[in-house]
Amino acid sequence: MTITIRPITEADAPAISALVAGFAAQNLMLPRSEAQVLLALEDFRVADDGGRIVGCGSLIELTPTLSEIRSLAVAADCHSRGVGGQIVGELLGLARQRGLEQVCALTLRPNFFQRQGFQIVDRWNLTPKIWSECVYCVKFHRCDEVAMLQNLRDPAAAPDPAPWWHFLADHAPQPVLRWLAPRRD
Ligand SMILES: CC(C)(COP(=O)(O)OP(=O)(O)OC[C@H]1O[C@@H](n2cnc3c(N)ncnc32)[C@H](O)[C@@H]1OP(=O)(O)O)[C@@H](O)C(=O)NCCC(=O)NCCS
Repeated sequence: MTITIRPITEADAPAISALVAGFAAQNLMLPRSEAQVLLALEDFRVADDGGRIVGCGSLIELTPTLSEIRSLAVAADCHSRGVGGQIVGELLGLARQRGLEQVCALTLRPNFFQRQGFQIVDRWNLTPKIWSECVYCVKFHRCDEVAMLQNLRDPAAAPDPAPWWHFLADHAPQPVLRWLAPRRD
């Protein structure tokens, strides 16, 4: 099996959506529609086995410094052959290229992510993720996923997630929230 990890084109969207849907049906991850994949074309990578999409993953920027590995999936018949690890490695490389400082993930597979250099953190430290996605999740109040974080600049350092007010300052449209957020400097 010769598998290539590559960027995606519009033509890959149906296969990615179908691959994720299979695991979403088992409550292992959230579904991604073709339209959602098309909106994140630059952010996805796939594992291509001679024209068959056997894995996918995306790197979503939550703030100018923090990104998230999302929609990571490998076809069941290709598990435990290193494909998922290769996709994560590629996404970490993409994060470095983009000048991002931290990559996070919410996962049911903490051991897998630990082997890729992530450390466990309190999910409430990932406030940009919580307020942009988790609040819309049906499992918000009974979340069973483990929050993981990797510092790209100094991977050995203890995770030190960006303070919550950075997200507020960057994204809050309301003047009162901007006023509440302490200045960055
Ligand atoms: C999580 C997931 C993406 C991992 O993909 P994968 O291709 O099986 O990942 P890898 O092969 O790189 O690693 C899986 C295991 O195989 C082992 N492995 C890797 N290469 C191996 C090899 N050549 N020979 C034997 N074992 C190997 C690794 O040690 C790893 O063990 P770990 O999970 O305890 O760390 C995959 O299981 C999946 O799609 N799960 C369902 C969807 C899902 O849960 N997605 C959400 C993830 S956040």
